[in-house]
Amino acid sequence: MNEKQLAAEKSTEFIKDGMTIGLGTGSTVFFLVNKLAGLVKQGLKIKCTSTSNRTSELAKSLGIDIVDLNEIDHIDLTIDGADEVDNNLNGIKGGGGALLFEKIVAKASDKVIWIVDSSKYVKQLGKFPLPVEVITFGSNHLFKKFLEFGYKPVKREVAGKVFITDSGNEIFDLHLNEIKDSIKLEKDIKLLCGVVEVGLFNNIADMVIIGRNNSTEIIERIK
Ligand code: A5P
Repeated sequence: MNEKQLAAEKSTEFIKDGMTIGLGTGSTVFFLVNKLAGLVKQGLKIKCTSTSNRTSELAKSLGIDIVDLNEIDHIDLTIDGADEVDNNLNGIKGGGGALLFEKIVAKASDKVIWIVDSSKYVKQLGKFPLPVEVITFGSNHLFKKFLEFGYKPVKREVAGKVFITDSGNEIFDLHLNEIKDSIKLEKDIKLLCGVVEVGLFNNIADMVIIGRNNSTEIIERIK
C-alpha cells in the first residue's frame, strides 16, 4: 500500500456510525472514498457532503450519496488531503483547484483531519506554489499587482487552456519558495479586490495523518 492510501485508510478509524462527513478532493481522498464505499456497503451509516464535482462524481459512482452543504446543519468530521503541512498544522491546499469549497467545508466542520504522504510534511511552507482563486473579471490587472508585489504568479492552465474552478474562477499559483508568516500572508492576499480565496489553511486542521513507509504517524493540534 502506498503512503497516501495508508493515511487515507487510517483516517476511516475516526468515522463513526451516524456522523456527517465532509469529503475533500485529490488523489489521497480517492483512496478514502474507495475505502468508505466498502464500509458503507458493509453497513456504516453516514451522511456525506463534498468539496468538488470530482469527489461528488467519484462518491456517487461508488454508491455514496452526497448531500448539499446547505442541507446539513453541521459536519462532524472533514477528511481532506493537503499539498504541504508544517508542524503547526498550517498548510497549503488547492493543488487540485478545490480550495474554495475545501475551506468552506472545513470551516463548517467540528473536526478536520488531513491525510498526506510523508513528502508533504515540511519545515517551512512555500516550496509548493500557493494557489489563489480569483474572479475572471479583470484578472489580468490583478495578475499585474501580484507581479508587482513579487508574488511570482503563474496563471494555472491545463492542456493550454486557462484552468477554471468549480465556481467559475481562475487560479494564480504563487511561486514564493518560502512563506515566513502564513497568517499575515493569508490576510494580505485575501484583502486584494478580486481575490476569492487563498490556499493557505491556517489553524484549520486538528489532526494530520502522515503515511510514512509502511505505517502511519498522527500529529494532533495542541489546544
Ligand atoms: C485540492 O484542491 C487540494 O487541496 C488537495 O487536497 C491537495 O492538492 C492534495 O492533493 P493530493 O491528495 O492529490 O496530493
